[in-house]
Amino acid sequence: MSTPPIPSAYRFPDEPDAVELRSFTHGLQPERVPHMMEQFTEDWRQHGVDAWNRVPNHWRPDTDDPVGWWTLPTYLGDEFVAPLLGAPAHTCILQPSVHWTIQCLLSSPEVGARGDEVLVSETAFPSILHSAQRWSTLRDLDPHIVSPTDARRVDREALLGAIGPDTALVALSHVGFTTGACLPASFLRSVAERAQRHDALFLLDGYHAAATRPIDVTHLGCDLYVGGLLKEASGSAGNTFVYLRNGLDLTPRLTGWFGNAAPFEFRTKPHPHPDVRRRFLGGTTAVAPMYHAVEGVRLLLDLGLDAVRDHSLTLTDRAIARANALDVPLRSPRAADERSAMVLLEVPEAERLAAHLKEHHVYTDSRRNEVLRMAPFVWNTTGEIDRAFDLIGDALAAGTYRSRSVDTSGPVT
Ligand SMILES: Cc1ncc(COP(=O)(O)O)c(C=O)c1O
Repeated sequence: MSTPPIPSAYRFPDEPDAVELRSFTHGLQPERVPHMMEQFTEDWRQHGVDAWNRVPNHWRPDTDDPVGWWTLPTYLGDEFVAPLLGAPAHTCILQPSVHWTIQCLLSSPEVGARGDEVLVSETAFPSILHSAQRWSTLRDLDPHIVSPTDARRVDREALLGAIGPDTALVALSHVGFTTGACLPASFLRSVAERAQRHDALFLLDGYHAAATRPIDVTHLGCDLYVGGLLKEASGSAGNTFVYLRNGLDLTPRLTGWFGNAAPFEFRTKPHPHPDVRRRFLGGTTAVAPMYHAVEGVRLLLDLGLDAVRDHSLTLTDRAIARANALDVPLRSPRAADERSAMVLLEVPEAERLAAHLKEHHVYTDSRRNEVLRMAPFVWNTTGEIDRAFDLIGDALAAGTYRSRSVDTSGPVT
């Protein structure tokens, strides 16, 4: 049985036998989160409005780096997000949601100036796929949606072939949220090169990739890389980020006064901030989520992203072997180089199977009642994978779970 590399750094639910396999939705809470939230209420109490200028540096207490609520989005971007992405200094900033970042991007005149098509795979997450369609009624930016392959993956050949002189932006998921398939770096580099040849921008959504493996955005050649810290990085709502390639000039129309060059001069005309990252800020930034945003990232960086990936591969290897032994088809890739942290099993009545496992304190989820999703992570062991698959094997053999009821107490599945 493998040992989880950093189990004591997380807070587990009050069920001694719980097996949490949903890192693709919400990671376990890092130990330091309650302490950090206490620091927020203390800073608020002690410093009031002055906290915008200066608070004690709880994020890097071993340094003298000055930090205040005003500078936190870029400070945490530099200190914690950039190392996750292999990004250079001054290229990353925290964001409230991927959705917001995409709105800012599509509202930038510099996008439409490059062409009149937004090229997006149908497999992209709604924050991108729906936005590309919605903006087409406001701007001369037509969505060009590329259908997936029969295996529901990005149709790489069709996508590359579709990049041309009309393309303004190519937007892809680094890891598909419905397949767990990771697009290979060689393909992404070809997309980047072709996009560059046609003066188009290239955006990658790495929500399911960042924090699960080392990433090198410069090597991939993308112009923007978005993602969030809610999943494997164990953050919470309001903890997303964007990387903007050095030299990228964008002036989002949606920018707010926090993205203005001289906000406290209250000039009558807007003036974009010289740091392009800050132009992706809107109104007053929500400060509380930034207190705990990077505690999970800190743990993963301390462990090393190579070790995180190695442990993930050990766990997904075991899950795949157990699925093979049960003859359960997989929707996620088997090959290690295309695999993400997720394993997706094609099972009948997946929703009911997830409910059955939940009753036994094994937490997975299902999508469209077609696949059972699991993403074992640094807090899991191969023994836990075995426990999950023992239950799955028994349930599939007996079949009784197929007629059980499903808890429909809320909209979130
Ligand atoms: C691939 C991907 N992109 C984006 C999001 C969420 O984006 P947002 O921050 O807009 O809620 C998710 C959420 O699960 C996702 O899986």
